[in-house]
Parts: sequence; C-alpha cells; structure tokens
Amino acid sequence: LSERFGLDLKPDNIAVTAGGTFAVYGSIEAVTGLGDEVIVIEPAWPLYAHQVRWLGRRPKIIKTRFEDNWDPVNMIQEKVSRLTKLIILNYPNNPTGRVLDERSIRAIIEIAEDYGAWILSDEVYMDFCYRDGFESILKLGTERTIMVNSFSKTWGMTGFRVGYVVSDPETAARVARAQNTAITCIPEFVQRAALAALNDEESARRNVELIGMRLRILYEELSRSRLIEVRPPEGAMYIFPRINVEGFDSWRFAWKLLEEKGVAIAPGACFGQSYNNHLRISAVLDEKPLREACRRIREAVEEYC
Ligand SMILES: Cc1ncc(COP(=O)(O)O)c(C=O)c1O
Repeated sequence: LSERFGLDLKPDNIAVTAGGTFAVYGSIEAVTGLGDEVIVIEPAWPLYAHQVRWLGRRPKIIKTRFEDNWDPVNMIQEKVSRLTKLIILNYPNNPTGRVLDERSIRAIIEIAEDYGAWILSDEVYMDFCYRDGFESILKLGTERTIMVNSFSKTWGMTGFRVGYVVSDPETAARVARAQNTAITCIPEFVQRAALAALNDEESARRNVELIGMRLRILYEELSRSRLIEVRPPEGAMYIFPRINVEGFDSWRFAWKLLEEKGVAIAPGACFGQSYNNHLRISAVLDEKPLREACRRIREAVEEYC
C-alpha cells in the first residue's frame, strides 16, 4: 500500500481482519458509540445498516437515485448533522458499479471534517475500477479515515475470510481488540495465503481484466431489451439495471428467474426498499453462459409484463 499510494504506512496502521465484513464491523465499533448516527448510502451492501443496528448505533439512510447517476454528495450535505459520527462510503460500489471521482470524495471529506465525523471507505473493489479519476481515501484522507479492504475480490479468496483495516494506530488497535475478543485472530496459515496472494500480481491483473470484459458483455446484452435500463458499468463486479415494468417486484422476479430459467441474481430490494424495480447481476460467469443468462433474463422480463 505504501508503494502503491506513496505513503509511509507502518504495521501499526493495519489490523488484519476476518474479511472485509469484520473490518467494517470492528471499525463501526471502534469509532462510534451507542446511539450515534451512521450515514449509509443506499443502494448499499446490506450488512452496513445491519451491523450499525446490531451495534446499537442508528443508520441514517441516504437514498441515491438512478436518475442522478447515484450521486450522494448533495444528499450527504442535506442529511449530515452534529449527531453523525461516521459516513460509510463504498466506491467502486456494490451494487451499482458506480465509481466516485476524486472531486466528489474530496467534497465528502470536507463535509465530514465540518461535522467532526469519521469516514469509512470500503474499498474492497478498489482494483475493479474501469474509469479514470478514482482515488483511494488513503491518498485523500486526512484524519479520521478508515480504509477497508479484502482478499475476497481481487484474488477471489472469499472462503479464506481475510481482509484488513488501514487507519491511525489507535483506531487499528481498537479494531484488532474487538476481533481478539471475538475470535482471537486470523489463522496463521490464512495470513500466509494472503501474503502469497500479495506477491501474485498476475492473478489479480487477470481477474480484474476478466471481470471488466464480463461487465461489458452484461451491459451490451442487457441493453438489448427495451424494458431494461442500464448504465455503463464503471467498477466493482456488478450491474444494477432498472426494470421498467409497472408494479415490478424484484424478489418475486428473482425467484421466478431461478426456478423457471435456472439463473441466480440478487433482488434490488436487498440493497434498500426503494430499489424493488432493480436487479443486481454479478459478472461471475464465462462469456458463453453469461450471454445465455442475459438472454434468459431478457425473456423473463418480457414474460413478467
Ligand atoms: C461492499 C462490500 N464490502 C465488504 C464485503 C465483504 O467481503 P468479505 O467479508 O468477503 O471480505 C463485500 C462482500 O460482498 C462487499 O460487497
């Protein structure tokens, strides 16, 4: 990270965690207290709001819109308050694939600084960035920032359950303490596997290229339907189209698609109640089955009308 971002990070700045999942959980616990407000930008990875509530903090939900290209900056400005202790960002984003440019991230940092809030930047899809202009919070952040990362995405090591937090030494130690209390540590052999992955840049590069190619296929194939509205994917490994069918129910559709067409996707409503007319489709199949899955999705949408 020091090499990549021109920083001088020390081991004290890092806590190795049980995946990005515990990195987020431990960070929320480390920098907020009971009853504090945490800004969660929807559509969002469902565990943010769940973890915030589980820890007795209060999620303040911001509902970004497809029409605004999922832009959160003005909405954060409207919703932030003196009770806000943490703003959770996730770019490149799951589920929208949106990547925020440096200017927008700087604007959010300014808002956080004005209110004395922390920023947690979940950058587990950092390497899956298919447009210019993204900068890690590590390069932009000043004080009160936490960067979360994982080996689950770049190296596809989801089952190893290993990730990390980068912050100031005190915050990293607090995250490590929360984890020690719950699970002692990440098994040594898993940490060795993660070290080996760090030295395998070739696999990471191939993975990123492959996902980028699949995202382009998803965009091209789904754009062929008059009922499916898609934005060109900018990052992460997902596409989050809007389905322009009156009364569309993403859960009902997802079950039907699975049972009748054998295709698994995530209902948009998983990422926030307001997104019931969206679907999240992952770029995880090879070209041929991916094109066939898209054909079945198009067909199922037509039949749903
Ligand atoms: C945005 C985001 N953050 C964190 C995670 C957690 O990943 P893991 O716990 O496997 O590292 C995920 C997994 O899907 C995710 O999409």
